[in-house]
Amino acid sequence: MKSSKIAGLGFYVPEKVVTNQDLTAFVNTTNEWIVERTGVRQRHYFDPEKGETNFGFAVKASEIALQRAGLTPQDIDLIVYATLSPDYYFPGSGVLLQRAMDFRNIAAIDLRAQCSGFIYALSVADQFIKTGMYKHVLVVGSEIHSSGLDYSDHGRHVAVIFGDGAGAVVLSATDEPGKGILSTHLHSEGKYAEELAVIYPKSSAKNRNPIEELQPGGGFYPVMNGQYVFKHAVTRMPEAIMEALEANNYKPEDIDILVPHQANIRITQAVQQRLGLPDEKVVSNIQNYGNTTAASIPIALCEAWEAGRIKEGDLVCLCSFGSGFTWASALIRW
Ligand code: UT7
Repeated sequence: MKSSKIAGLGFYVPEKVVTNQDLTAFVNTTNEWIVERTGVRQRHYFDPEKGETNFGFAVKASEIALQRAGLTPQDIDLIVYATLSPDYYFPGSGVLLQRAMDFRNIAAIDLRAQCSGFIYALSVADQFIKTGMYKHVLVVGSEIHSSGLDYSDHGRHVAVIFGDGAGAVVLSATDEPGKGILSTHLHSEGKYAEELAVIYPKSSAKNRNPIEELQPGGGFYPVMNGQYVFKHAVTRMPEAIMEALEANNYKPEDIDILVPHQANIRITQAVQQRLGLPDEKVVSNIQNYGNTTAASIPIALCEAWEAGRIKEGDLVCLCSFGSGFTWASALIRW
Protein backbone atom coordinates (compact mmCIF):
# COMPACT_ATOMS: atom_id res chain seq x y z
CA MET A 1 0.00 0.00 0.00
CA LYS A 2 1.03 3.57 -0.63
CA SER A 3 1.31 6.05 2.20
CA SER A 4 0.72 9.78 2.10
CA LYS A 5 3.00 12.62 3.05
CA ILE A 6 2.51 16.37 3.38
CA ALA A 7 4.09 17.69 0.19
CA GLY A 8 3.25 21.36 0.74
CA LEU A 9 1.52 23.55 3.29
CA GLY A 10 0.32 27.13 3.58
CA PHE A 11 -1.88 29.41 5.63
CA TYR A 12 -3.59 32.75 5.33
CA VAL A 13 -5.16 35.10 7.84
CA PRO A 14 -6.94 38.34 6.92
CA GLU A 15 -5.07 41.61 7.39
CA LYS A 16 -7.40 43.10 9.97
CA VAL A 17 -5.99 42.55 13.47
CA VAL A 18 -8.32 42.94 16.46
CA THR A 19 -6.53 43.18 19.79
CA ASN A 20 -8.13 42.47 23.15
CA GLN A 21 -8.11 46.22 23.71
CA ASP A 22 -9.98 46.73 20.41
CA LEU A 23 -12.62 44.23 21.57
CA THR A 24 -13.35 46.24 24.70
CA ALA A 25 -14.99 48.86 22.44
CA PHE A 26 -17.91 46.50 21.80
CA VAL A 27 -17.57 43.62 24.28
CA ASN A 28 -17.89 43.89 28.06
CA THR A 29 -14.44 42.44 28.72
CA THR A 30 -10.83 43.27 29.58
CA ASN A 31 -7.44 42.41 28.16
CA GLU A 32 -6.49 40.92 31.54
CA TRP A 33 -9.47 38.53 31.62
CA ILE A 34 -8.87 37.29 28.09
CA VAL A 35 -5.12 36.80 28.52
CA GLU A 36 -5.42 35.11 31.88
CA ARG A 37 -8.29 32.76 30.94
CA THR A 38 -7.38 31.96 27.33
CA GLY A 39 -3.90 33.23 26.37
CA VAL A 40 -5.36 35.14 23.38
CA ARG A 41 -3.89 38.62 22.77
CA GLN A 42 -5.19 39.32 19.28
CA ARG A 43 -7.06 37.66 16.45
CA HIS A 44 -7.68 38.41 12.75
CA TYR A 45 -11.13 39.32 11.44
CA PHE A 46 -12.34 39.24 7.86
CA ASP A 47 -13.42 42.47 6.18
CA PRO A 48 -16.77 42.15 4.36
CA GLU A 49 -16.13 45.48 2.62
CA LYS A 50 -13.15 43.91 0.87
CA GLY A 51 -15.30 41.00 -0.27
CA GLU A 52 -13.34 38.52 1.84
CA THR A 53 -14.83 35.02 2.04
CA ASN A 54 -14.20 31.68 3.71
CA PHE A 55 -13.29 30.03 0.39
CA GLY A 56 -11.21 33.10 -0.53
CA PHE A 57 -8.98 32.41 2.49
CA ALA A 58 -8.78 28.79 1.40
CA VAL A 59 -7.63 29.93 -2.07
CA LYS A 60 -4.75 31.92 -0.57
CA ALA A 61 -3.64 29.11 1.74
CA SER A 62 -4.00 26.52 -1.03
CA GLU A 63 -1.97 28.55 -3.54
CA ILE A 64 0.96 28.58 -1.11
CA ALA A 65 0.59 24.87 -0.32
CA LEU A 66 0.46 23.96 -4.03
CA GLN A 67 3.44 26.11 -4.88
CA ARG A 68 5.50 24.53 -2.07
CA ALA A 69 4.48 21.09 -3.29
CA GLY A 70 5.59 22.05 -6.81
CA LEU A 71 2.11 21.26 -8.16
CA THR A 72 -0.64 23.11 -10.02
CA PRO A 73 -4.42 22.89 -9.48
CA GLN A 74 -4.52 20.51 -12.46
CA ASP A 75 -2.55 17.94 -10.46
CA ILE A 76 -5.06 17.73 -7.60
CA ASP A 77 -7.42 14.74 -7.56
CA LEU A 78 -9.69 15.63 -4.62
CA ILE A 79 -10.53 18.52 -2.28
CA VAL A 80 -11.45 17.83 1.35
CA TYR A 81 -12.62 21.04 2.97
CA ALA A 82 -13.20 21.29 6.72
CA THR A 83 -15.25 24.21 8.04
CA LEU A 84 -18.08 25.01 10.43
CA SER A 85 -18.64 28.42 8.88
CA PRO A 86 -19.22 27.71 5.18
CA ASP A 87 -19.91 30.53 2.74
CA TYR A 88 -23.39 29.17 2.01
CA TYR A 89 -25.75 26.85 3.87
CA PHE A 90 -25.37 24.83 0.67
CA PRO A 91 -23.54 24.09 -1.57
CA GLY A 92 -20.38 23.58 0.44
CA SER A 93 -17.29 25.77 0.27
CA GLY A 94 -15.35 22.96 -1.42
CA VAL A 95 -17.08 23.57 -4.74
CA LEU A 96 -16.49 27.32 -4.42
CA LEU A 97 -12.80 26.59 -4.01
CA GLN A 98 -12.93 24.20 -6.97
CA ARG A 99 -14.40 26.99 -9.11
CA ALA A 100 -12.12 29.74 -7.83
CA MET A 101 -8.87 27.91 -8.52
CA ASP A 102 -9.85 26.25 -11.75
CA PHE A 103 -9.34 22.71 -10.54
CA ARG A 104 -10.44 19.91 -12.84
CA ASN A 105 -13.99 18.61 -12.22
CA ILE A 106 -12.76 16.69 -9.21
CA ALA A 107 -14.79 15.80 -6.12
CA ALA A 108 -15.00 18.42 -3.37
CA ILE A 109 -16.01 17.05 0.01
CA ASP A 110 -17.12 19.46 2.76
CA LEU A 111 -16.46 17.97 6.15
CA ARG A 112 -18.10 19.00 9.41
CA ALA A 113 -16.18 18.00 12.50
CA GLN A 114 -15.58 21.49 13.93
CA CYS A 115 -12.25 21.75 15.80
CA SER A 116 -11.38 18.20 14.75
CA GLY A 117 -12.25 19.02 11.15
CA PHE A 118 -8.70 19.24 9.88
CA ILE A 119 -7.55 15.91 11.33
CA TYR A 120 -10.75 14.23 10.12
CA ALA A 121 -10.14 15.73 6.66
CA LEU A 122 -6.51 14.61 6.68
CA SER A 123 -7.66 11.11 7.57
CA VAL A 124 -10.21 11.02 4.73
CA ALA A 125 -7.55 12.19 2.28
CA ASP A 126 -5.09 9.62 3.62
CA GLN A 127 -7.52 6.75 2.97
CA PHE A 128 -8.02 7.77 -0.69
CA ILE A 129 -4.25 7.88 -1.17
CA LYS A 130 -3.50 4.63 0.66
CA THR A 131 -5.96 2.69 -1.50
CA GLY A 132 -4.29 4.08 -4.61
CA MET A 133 -7.39 5.91 -5.83
CA TYR A 134 -5.81 9.38 -5.73
CA LYS A 135 -2.27 10.73 -5.87
CA HIS A 136 -2.61 14.34 -4.67
CA VAL A 137 -5.35 15.57 -2.33
CA LEU A 138 -5.84 19.14 -1.13
CA VAL A 139 -6.89 19.32 2.53
CA VAL A 140 -8.24 22.64 3.80
CA GLY A 141 -9.42 24.07 7.11
CA SER A 142 -10.97 27.54 6.85
CA GLU A 143 -13.21 29.65 9.05
CA ILE A 144 -14.91 33.00 9.33
CA HIS A 145 -16.17 33.21 12.91
CA SER A 146 -16.25 36.94 13.48
CA SER A 147 -19.54 37.54 11.63
CA GLY A 148 -21.39 34.97 13.77
CA LEU A 149 -20.33 35.64 17.34
CA ASP A 150 -22.55 36.89 20.16
CA TYR A 151 -20.70 39.95 21.42
CA SER A 152 -23.28 40.56 24.19
CA ASP A 153 -22.80 39.39 27.79
CA HIS A 154 -24.51 36.10 26.84
CA GLY A 155 -21.73 35.16 24.49
CA ARG A 156 -18.67 37.12 25.57
CA HIS A 157 -16.85 34.05 26.98
CA VAL A 158 -17.05 32.52 23.47
CA ALA A 159 -16.72 35.68 21.37
CA VAL A 160 -13.33 36.73 22.76
CA ILE A 161 -11.65 33.43 21.86
CA PHE A 162 -12.37 33.02 18.17
CA GLY A 163 -10.59 34.32 15.07
CA ASP A 164 -10.71 33.94 11.28
CA GLY A 165 -8.23 32.27 8.94
CA ALA A 166 -7.33 29.26 6.84
CA GLY A 167 -4.68 26.59 6.44
CA ALA A 168 -4.13 24.03 3.70
CA VAL A 169 -1.90 21.07 2.97
CA VAL A 170 -1.29 19.00 -0.15
CA LEU A 171 -1.19 15.32 0.71
CA SER A 172 0.69 13.24 -1.87
CA ALA A 173 1.31 9.54 -2.35
CA THR A 174 4.77 8.28 -1.43
CA ASP A 175 6.58 4.94 -1.62
CA GLU A 176 9.17 5.90 0.99
CA PRO A 177 8.87 3.32 3.76
CA GLY A 178 8.01 4.65 7.21
CA LYS A 179 7.40 8.19 5.91
CA GLY A 180 4.30 10.35 6.01
CA ILE A 181 1.09 9.75 7.93
CA LEU A 182 1.61 6.77 10.22
CA SER A 183 -1.94 6.67 11.56
CA THR A 184 -5.00 8.76 12.34
CA HIS A 185 -7.48 8.23 15.19
CA LEU A 186 -10.95 9.77 15.09
CA HIS A 187 -13.64 9.88 17.78
CA SER A 188 -17.00 11.41 18.60
CA GLU A 189 -19.49 11.44 21.48
CA GLY A 190 -22.72 13.00 20.28
CA LYS A 191 -24.41 12.95 23.66
CA TYR A 192 -22.64 16.25 24.29
CA ALA A 193 -23.67 17.86 20.98
CA GLU A 194 -25.43 20.83 22.59
CA GLU A 195 -22.60 21.68 25.01
CA LEU A 196 -20.88 23.58 22.20
CA ALA A 197 -23.14 24.32 19.28
CA VAL A 198 -24.90 26.70 16.91
CA ILE A 199 -28.50 25.43 16.71
CA TYR A 200 -30.00 27.67 13.99
CA PRO A 201 -30.87 27.66 11.13
CA LYS A 202 -32.57 24.49 12.33
CA SER A 203 -34.16 22.38 9.59
CA SER A 204 -36.46 20.58 12.04
CA ALA A 205 -37.99 23.83 13.35
CA LYS A 206 -41.31 24.98 11.92
CA ASN A 207 -39.61 28.23 10.99
CA ARG A 208 -35.98 27.64 10.18
CA ASN A 209 -35.01 31.32 10.58
CA PRO A 210 -37.01 32.80 13.50
CA ILE A 211 -36.14 36.41 14.14
CA GLU A 212 -36.19 35.97 17.93
CA GLU A 213 -33.25 33.55 17.68
CA LEU A 214 -31.20 36.43 16.28
CA GLN A 215 -31.38 38.25 19.62
CA PRO A 216 -28.36 38.03 21.99
CA GLY A 217 -28.35 34.59 23.58
CA GLY A 218 -30.37 33.22 20.61
CA GLY A 219 -29.84 30.03 18.67
CA PHE A 220 -28.04 31.57 15.70
CA TYR A 221 -25.03 32.16 17.95
CA PRO A 222 -22.56 29.70 19.43
CA VAL A 223 -23.34 28.46 22.92
CA MET A 224 -20.66 26.82 25.01
CA ASN A 225 -20.60 25.24 28.42
CA GLY A 226 -17.00 26.40 28.73
CA GLN A 227 -15.82 24.60 31.85
CA TYR A 228 -17.47 21.37 30.77
CA VAL A 229 -15.81 21.52 27.35
CA PHE A 230 -12.50 22.39 29.01
CA LYS A 231 -12.61 19.32 31.29
CA HIS A 232 -13.34 16.97 28.41
CA ALA A 233 -10.63 18.56 26.24
CA VAL A 234 -7.85 18.04 28.78
CA THR A 235 -8.83 14.35 29.11
CA ARG A 236 -9.56 13.46 25.51
CA MET A 237 -6.57 15.15 23.88
CA PRO A 238 -3.91 13.24 25.89
CA GLU A 239 -5.96 10.06 25.41
CA ALA A 240 -5.94 10.52 21.63
CA ILE A 241 -2.20 11.25 21.61
CA MET A 242 -1.47 8.12 23.64
CA GLU A 243 -3.65 6.10 21.28
CA ALA A 244 -1.61 7.30 18.31
CA LEU A 245 1.70 6.65 20.08
CA GLU A 246 0.70 3.15 21.22
CA ALA A 247 -0.55 2.24 17.75
CA ASN A 248 2.95 2.92 16.45
CA ASN A 249 4.98 1.67 19.44
CA TYR A 250 6.16 5.09 20.50
CA LYS A 251 6.28 6.90 23.84
CA PRO A 252 5.58 10.58 24.57
CA GLU A 253 9.32 11.34 24.64
CA ASP A 254 9.60 10.17 21.01
CA ILE A 255 7.45 13.10 19.85
CA ASP A 256 9.58 15.82 18.23
CA ILE A 257 6.74 18.29 17.93
CA LEU A 258 3.15 18.37 19.13
CA VAL A 259 0.69 20.56 17.24
CA PRO A 260 -2.49 20.72 19.31
CA HIS A 261 -5.69 22.45 18.31
CA GLN A 262 -5.42 25.99 19.66
CA ALA A 263 -8.52 26.25 21.89
CA ASN A 264 -7.13 27.80 25.04
CA ILE A 265 -3.52 28.14 26.20
CA ARG A 266 -4.47 26.50 29.49
CA ILE A 267 -5.72 23.42 27.61
CA THR A 268 -2.44 23.23 25.66
CA GLN A 269 -0.45 23.57 28.90
CA ALA A 270 -2.49 20.84 30.61
CA VAL A 271 -1.94 18.46 27.67
CA GLN A 272 1.77 19.29 27.61
CA GLN A 273 2.04 18.61 31.34
CA ARG A 274 0.18 15.28 31.09
CA LEU A 275 2.66 14.10 28.45
CA GLY A 276 5.71 15.61 30.13
CA LEU A 277 6.80 17.51 27.03
CA PRO A 278 9.19 20.48 27.16
CA ASP A 279 8.05 23.87 25.78
CA GLU A 280 10.14 23.60 22.62
CA LYS A 281 8.21 20.50 21.55
CA VAL A 282 4.77 22.10 21.77
CA VAL A 283 3.38 24.61 19.26
CA SER A 284 1.28 27.42 20.68
CA ASN A 285 0.18 30.41 18.61
CA ILE A 286 -3.24 31.14 20.10
CA GLN A 287 -1.82 34.49 21.31
CA ASN A 288 -1.87 35.81 17.74
CA TYR A 289 -4.85 34.12 16.10
CA GLY A 290 -7.29 33.00 18.79
CA ASN A 291 -9.17 29.78 18.12
CA THR A 292 -9.63 29.33 14.37
CA THR A 293 -11.33 25.92 14.70
CA ALA A 294 -10.68 23.80 11.55
CA ALA A 295 -7.88 26.19 10.54
CA SER A 296 -6.01 26.16 13.84
CA ILE A 297 -3.93 23.01 13.34
CA PRO A 298 -2.84 23.71 9.73
CA ILE A 299 -1.98 27.32 10.66
CA ALA A 300 0.08 26.19 13.67
CA LEU A 301 1.69 23.36 11.68
CA CYS A 302 2.63 25.71 8.87
CA GLU A 303 4.02 28.39 11.18
CA ALA A 304 6.12 25.81 13.02
CA TRP A 305 7.41 24.44 9.72
CA GLU A 306 8.21 27.94 8.40
CA ALA A 307 10.11 28.68 11.62
CA GLY A 308 12.29 25.59 11.05
CA ARG A 309 10.80 23.77 14.04
CA ILE A 310 9.87 20.74 11.90
CA LYS A 311 12.67 18.90 10.12
CA GLU A 312 12.89 15.92 7.80
CA GLY A 313 12.43 12.72 9.81
CA ASP A 314 10.73 14.38 12.80
CA LEU A 315 7.85 12.66 14.56
CA VAL A 316 4.96 15.14 14.43
CA CYS A 317 1.79 14.63 16.45
CA LEU A 318 -1.49 16.49 15.79
CA CYS A 319 -4.42 16.39 18.19
CA SER A 320 -7.77 18.09 18.57
CA PHE A 321 -10.92 18.34 20.63
CA GLY A 322 -14.10 20.28 19.97
CA SER A 323 -17.79 20.54 19.31
CA GLY A 324 -19.59 17.26 18.76
CA PHE A 325 -17.86 16.31 20.93
CA THR A 326 -15.25 15.20 18.44
CA TRP A 327 -11.60 14.50 19.07
CA ALA A 328 -8.75 13.12 16.99
CA SER A 329 -5.03 12.60 16.60
CA ALA A 330 -2.56 11.95 13.81
CA LEU A 331 1.04 10.81 13.88
CA ILE A 332 3.30 11.84 11.01
CA ARG A 333 6.90 10.94 10.19
CA TRP A 334 7.95 14.13 8.38
O1 UT7 B 1 -12.24 24.83 20.36
C1 UT7 B 1 -13.36 24.13 20.82
C2 UT7 B 1 -13.21 23.72 22.20
N1 UT7 B 1 -13.34 24.85 23.08
C3 UT7 B 1 -12.71 24.85 24.21
O2 UT7 B 1 -11.97 23.91 24.47
C4 UT7 B 1 -12.96 25.96 25.20
C5 UT7 B 1 -12.99 25.41 26.59
N2 UT7 B 1 -13.38 26.40 27.60
C6 UT7 B 1 -12.66 27.49 27.90
O3 UT7 B 1 -11.63 27.70 27.32
C7 UT7 B 1 -13.11 28.37 29.03
O4 UT7 B 1 -14.19 27.76 29.70
C8 UT7 B 1 -13.52 29.80 28.58
C9 UT7 B 1 -12.30 30.58 28.17
C10 UT7 B 1 -14.50 29.72 27.43
C11 UT7 B 1 -14.20 30.55 29.72
O5 UT7 B 1 -13.35 30.60 30.84
P1 UT7 B 1 -13.92 30.19 32.26
O6 UT7 B 1 -12.79 30.29 33.17
O7 UT7 B 1 -14.59 28.87 32.12
O8 UT7 B 1 -14.95 31.37 32.56
P2 UT7 B 1 -16.52 31.33 32.84
O9 UT7 B 1 -17.27 31.28 31.57
O10 UT7 B 1 -16.84 30.29 33.86
O11 UT7 B 1 -16.73 32.75 33.48
C12 UT7 B 1 -16.05 33.12 34.70
C13 UT7 B 1 -16.43 34.55 35.02
C14 UT7 B 1 -17.92 34.81 35.06
O12 UT7 B 1 -18.16 35.81 36.03
P3 UT7 B 1 -18.67 35.43 37.51
O13 UT7 B 1 -19.95 34.67 37.30
O14 UT7 B 1 -17.59 34.60 38.10
O15 UT7 B 1 -18.83 36.77 38.15
C15 UT7 B 1 -18.22 35.37 33.69
O16 UT7 B 1 -19.36 36.18 33.66
O17 UT7 B 1 -15.91 35.43 34.01
C16 UT7 B 1 -16.98 36.18 33.42
N3 UT7 B 1 -16.69 36.32 32.00
C17 UT7 B 1 -16.00 37.32 31.48
N4 UT7 B 1 -15.44 38.42 32.02
C18 UT7 B 1 -14.78 39.25 31.20
C19 UT7 B 1 -17.03 35.46 31.01
N5 UT7 B 1 -16.55 35.90 29.84
C20 UT7 B 1 -15.91 37.05 30.09
C21 UT7 B 1 -15.22 37.97 29.30
N6 UT7 B 1 -14.67 39.06 29.90
N7 UT7 B 1 -15.06 37.80 27.96
